[in-house]
This record gives sequence, C-alpha cells and structure tokens, in this order.
Amino acid sequence: MAASVIDGKQLAQALRTRWKLRADRLNAAGVAPGLAVVLVGDNPASQVYVRNKIKACGEVGIRSEEHVLAADSSLETVLALIDRLNSDAGIHGILVQLPLPAHLASAAVIARISPDKDVDGLHVHNMGSLLSGQPGFVPCTPAGVMEMLNTTGVNLRGLEAVVVGRSNIVGKPVALLLLQAGATVTLCHSQTKDLAQHTRRADILVAAVGKANSISGDMVKPGAMVIDVGINRTPEGKLVGDVDYAAARERAGWITPVPGGVGPMTIAMLLCNAILSAERCAVARGIRLDI
Ligand code: GUN
Repeated sequence: MAASVIDGKQLAQALRTRWKLRADRLNAAGVAPGLAVVLVGDNPASQVYVRNKIKACGEVGIRSEEHVLAADSSLETVLALIDRLNSDAGIHGILVQLPLPAHLASAAVIARISPDKDVDGLHVHNMGSLLSGQPGFVPCTPAGVMEMLNTTGVNLRGLEAVVVGRSNIVGKPVALLLLQAGATVTLCHSQTKDLAQHTRRADILVAAVGKANSISGDMVKPGAMVIDVGINRTPEGKLVGDVDYAAARERAGWITPVPGGVGPMTIAMLLCNAILSAERCAVARGIRLDI
C-alpha cells in the first residue's frame, strides 16, 4: 500500500494560524516581534528563500527587515551590521541566510549574533544547549522535521532512526532531537560504508544529503517514516528531494513530498522562534502576555 503523505504545506499553514495568535498578543502588548534577515550576495536560491521568509513574516504579524549586502562585502562590514542588529531593541531575531560567499567564514558570522536573537539556532551557545538538553533556539529545519514526525501519532521511543547527512544545520541537530525523543539514532554520512544496510533498518529515515536519488526505494524499510530534507533541481529544472519519491512511496508508511514537505515547515519554525524570542523579551521586561 502506498505511504501516507505528510503534507508540509498544510501543516505549516495550520501552525502559522497558531503563531498569528501569539504575534497578535505581542503586538497588542506593545512588543512588535521583529526579525532581521541578512542576505550577502545574489545567490538566486537564497534570494527566493529570503523572499519567502519575509512574506511569511508579514502574514503572521511579524515585522521584518531585509538587509542585502554586496557579494564582495568584507567580514568587518557583515559583523558591523550584526552588531547594529544585536543592539536594536526592536529586533528579536537575526537570520543570516546561508551559504555565505566563500571569503566569509560562516562560523565567525554566526558567532557574532547574540544567542538571544539567534532564531536559526546555529550559534554554538544554542547548539550546546541542544546537545545538553537545555532550553534555547532549536534550528528551524530540524524542528520542522520533528513536527512532521509528531503528526504521524507514532511514539518515537525505542524506534531505529537513521539520519543521512551530518551538517550543522540539519543532520547533527536532527540526530540530537531524535535522541531526545527516545529513538536509537544512527548518523550516516559520505564516508559511511554500505549506507543501504543502515537505511533498511530505519523506522525513521531522514535524508539530508543534498543530492537527488541518494535514497532509492529498496533502501527504505517497509512501513518507515521517510522525511526528505533535500531540495535539488534536476537538469530539466524540476525540484526533487534526496529520495526517489515514487519508489519510496510504495514501501514507506509515511513520506514527505518535495516541494511541499519540509521546506514550508522550516519557515513555520523560523516564525515560531522569532515569536518565542519576542515573548522572552516581553517577559524579561515584565510585560504580561494574557490570553
Ligand atoms: N540556508 C538553507 N537553509 C537555511 C536555514 O535554515 N537557515 C539559514 N540561515 N540559511 C539557510
């Protein structure tokens, strides 16, 4: 039987309706949630992602600012902008769209963002909080993956989870969140010997490779939950994930499509983090947020 499709677009829309209520409450209390998005250079994919994030902010009542810097901007210029945003009381979240141009060390740029405004959850402070199970900002795509798994209603405790891809932005934090949820986690990567041997055991399979058809149908355990984080463009211009969707859908129990899967959830969770940051700020200022 074909898998149930986890519709990320629909789920993200439902979450955004909830986030709007929280944003409305903040705005009514005089704390307008504000997000600054920094884009360095003119990477066309990044331009689309940033546009979508800015548009989504407007829809839930988050004030957003877009800061576009030239591709050849110096590290000092980028850091000076971040310093300014860090000290701007009207900004509760700062997101630097990745990847940055090659001459800019993303670790140095992310390290400059105040951990309290790091709504991407990529600062070492927030990464450390995630690792040690303390509250902080959870990276958006991994948080979206967990929301999608939760919609299945399946208890993740004791399940075998296999994550393919070890990036700081997806693979590593997803593995930590799955571990927190009680799954037994295997983190696979480009050096893994016999990837299929691992994926075929996976009750939960998260593909975050960045290459089309990295996961073929026969690499999926029958009944598995398959979350496809990849967004790849084929030579014909079609958007596809990392998983051979048609083949995997025949074996999986649940599967996420591309597009319309994890992508919209990443944005929904960014909005959530921005609102959370503004709420923390309001509470710190002694403002009551009554329902
Ligand atoms: N580039 C691709 N995904 C992301 C993301 O979640 N955050 C940032 N900052 N850049 C990205």
